[in-house]
Amino acid sequence: MATLNEIRTHFLDYFGRKDHAVVASAPLVPQNDPTLLFVNAGMVPFKNYFTGAETPPWPRAASSQKCVRAGGKHNDLDNVGYTARHHTFFEMLGNFSFGDYFKEGAIEAAWTLITKELGLPKDKLLVTVYHTDDEAAALWRKIAGFSDDRIIRIPTSDNFWSMGDTGPCGPCSEIFIDQGPELQGGPPGSPDEDGDRFLEFWNLVFMQYEQFADGRREDLPKPSIDTGMGLERVTAILQGVHSNYDTDLFRTLIAASVEATGVKAEGGAQPSHRVIADHLRAMSFLIADGVTPSNEGRGYVLRRIMRRAMRHAHLLGAEEPLMHRLAPTLVSEMGDAYPELRRAEPAIVDTLRQEEERFRVTLGRGLALLDEATAGLNEGDVLSGETAFKLYDTYGFPIDLTQDAVRAKGLTVDLAEYDAAMERQREMARGAWKGSGQVAAAAEWFAIRDRLGPTDFVGYETTEAIAELLVLTADGREVEAAQGGQTVQALFDRTPFYAESGGQAGDQGEAEWTGSDGKSGRGRVLDTQKQAGDLHVHTLEVLEGTLAPGARVRLAVDAERRASTRANHSATHLLHAALRNVLGHHVTQKGQMVDGERIRFDFSHGQPVTPEEIERIEAEVNAVIRQNLPAQTKSMKPQEAIEAGAMALFGEKYGDSVRVLTLGKALDGEGDYSIELCGGTHVARTGDIALFKIVQEQGVAAGVRRIEALTGEAARRYLLEQAGVSKTLAEQFKVPVAEVTARVEALQAQARKLEKELADAKRQLAMGGGGGAAAAGPEEIAGVKVMARVMDGVGGKDLRPIAEEFKKQLPDGVIALVGSADGKAAVTVAVTGEAQGRFNAVELAKAAVVAMGGQGAGGRPDFAQGGAPDGSKAAEGLAAVKAALGG
Ligand code: ALA
Repeated sequence: MATLNEIRTHFLDYFGRKDHAVVASAPLVPQNDPTLLFVNAGMVPFKNYFTGAETPPWPRAASSQKCVRAGGKHNDLDNVGYTARHHTFFEMLGNFSFGDYFKEGAIEAAWTLITKELGLPKDKLLVTVYHTDDEAAALWRKIAGFSDDRIIRIPTSDNFWSMGDTGPCGPCSEIFIDQGPELQGGPPGSPDEDGDRFLEFWNLVFMQYEQFADGRREDLPKPSIDTGMGLERVTAILQGVHSNYDTDLFRTLIAASVEATGVKAEGGAQPSHRVIADHLRAMSFLIADGVTPSNEGRGYVLRRIMRRAMRHAHLLGAEEPLMHRLAPTLVSEMGDAYPELRRAEPAIVDTLRQEEERFRVTLGRGLALLDEATAGLNEGDVLSGETAFKLYDTYGFPIDLTQDAVRAKGLTVDLAEYDAAMERQREMARGAWKGSGQVAAAAEWFAIRDRLGPTDFVGYETTEAIAELLVLTADGREVEAAQGGQTVQALFDRTPFYAESGGQAGDQGEAEWTGSDGKSGRGRVLDTQKQAGDLHVHTLEVLEGTLAPGARVRLAVDAERRASTRANHSATHLLHAALRNVLGHHVTQKGQMVDGERIRFDFSHGQPVTPEEIERIEAEVNAVIRQNLPAQTKSMKPQEAIEAGAMALFGEKYGDSVRVLTLGKALDGEGDYSIELCGGTHVARTGDIALFKIVQEQGVAAGVRRIEALTGEAARRYLLEQAGVSKTLAEQFKVPVAEVTARVEALQAQARKLEKELADAKRQLAMGGGGGAAAAGPEEIAGVKVMARVMDGVGGKDLRPIAEEFKKQLPDGVIALVGSADGKAAVTVAVTGEAQGRFNAVELAKAAVVAMGGQGAGGRPDFAQGGAPDGSKAAEGLAAVKAALGG
């Protein structure tokens, strides 16, 4: 019995033999198509070949394309786990003709593959065609020998396929298999067609039209073919099972989930295991293509899928985060066919674990709330939309998770009320928000791109070029001309200006031209950004003259800034390699930004990088810089690049060829030091980086660290500044720089010693040593000996030891000390010997405190202390004590 992996290979080999270029799957994030959330069919990467916007490099192709249908036009999320054949992620096998063969070739090839190669029984097969498509019906009669009752004409959109609301489309013909009367369901077009008996597994689309947003539908330049066969479905058929979840791949994934949870895949637990197996594929492949969970756009679709799966893990009683433990099984099953999965494994495991840990904090509490809210509800009832909104807003429950959770009880959610609550919150958030027009502008650039084609980027070879101005826009709209003082967006036929991408900032520089009026003009390029995938759009401030499309403009990149950007970008590649060497291979890039000033590089790592590690990283990078070997850029096929060991950036478009940059030689043996796929600008030799210095390391998110670093002149200036500090210190201390540290330590020790000596000296002085006022000895008031002193510069905590000393000298009497320090006053009163019968220390201290504007004092009858806010009243405080003794 053929495995899913073998069936995929069989399909691709078959079309390879029939002169089709076998093309690797494109990433799930559509490149250059803002209208689409995810690639949802095999034809998506080839859209421009169908419409004629790009010339196909081959007349025929075949692929096994990763697809996600969880949002947008084609959305299967709700059904997953509960039907035998719906998935959020699936593989679509397809063969494509770009104006080459048409209906006959497509039907012929499909029929031969399924009956002769894969051996499906002819008498179990039937097809649908679009109701007006007589040609397709006649071809099926001829090629398959079908009678008319096995060629079902369908008048609905089921047999007219389109990729989205716009784009290539056409009538289609679907191939079905009758799985036998023991399954429920009727043939296509019948009222019970949704049952499992008649299973559609291959759709042949006869691409003829292009649908535009304004409702127009135009003929494509050449009729073409797009087909899509669900790999999971055809595998189920060939393996003789009625559910995709019973095929070899899913059995393995479900077995892993059964083992990890200890719960068998039976009864109520079965949908949970299925959801987990399905969602594990979607989330892992999305992460491998650079999507990270977030609260908007693609990231939110990923988060919804993740959280939906995590609730099912919770239902199965998983005590610990589960999903990341299943990832290795998926990688070993599918990593050969999709190497990006293997490369991204550490990132997948990390992302899954972190999201599950985060969601666990609120999942339990949210489910408790949900239980409470549904306790009184019966099958067929509706859960309030406000509750669903609260679950969303407070507990992070995506709406489909809530819907999925109440499904088991036969409940639905009041979506209108939920939407209203959501809208209310949006209104509030909108408050201060002003539309930026950016979305409209982005759509405009796609239209311009369709009209004019990509910008010719000449900046790898040069920093100056003469170019023709094609389009000017201001505030998102095309304009005829721009005058001095205006800032506009300018598109040229070619440019040396690098547009921000791959974490490298856009170039800045100068522009000069002669206008149609013969006058010269001048402007400044403030930034360069990418639009519509491959347009380099310059933000240009006109300084002098008038600029209008058609002008020939001399464009000059700020060469110095570009040179330091190049050094920074190349150094970032070296840093990436050094981090992996020093910290380990779990390190993957999470983001980067390089410009003319500095490097900022984010990467996955669980703890701070130690100073010793930083030093090793710097030493490695600088050693490779000193090798001064030429940087090598090569165009390679993606597969070759990966085999050569290139570190791929997730989610990059892997076209036919990728740009691969190699820097330096490995420090401990054979091979290259750094190999990465990269479209950025780089140094000619590593020595051009000159010097590399890390200036900061910090955490920016859970499990993500950030390093900031400098190169070349900026690094030299930084080190100079640091050296300047130690040089100044050395001069001040009058020692060589190397001895500054020892000197500082000695000074600190000395300062501590002096502080102690000073405190002792103060006490001595207060005690009357050294012939000060205290030497005068006790006076007598109302028949008792009294030692009464005002002590300037002595704070509360120093009074106590002084009082203790005085007590030794005055065994029978009263000691009253009022200190003042830092503007405040403090009182200590001690009563000794016989005097204890007559005076209370607390009362006496209180008299002083009150006289100095304070509240009270505390202690025992023989010893009390207190404080007051005004140190300048110390003498009055002491007078008050004497008065109290006398009274
Ligand atoms: N593009 C067609 C589909 O997705 C083949 O069904």
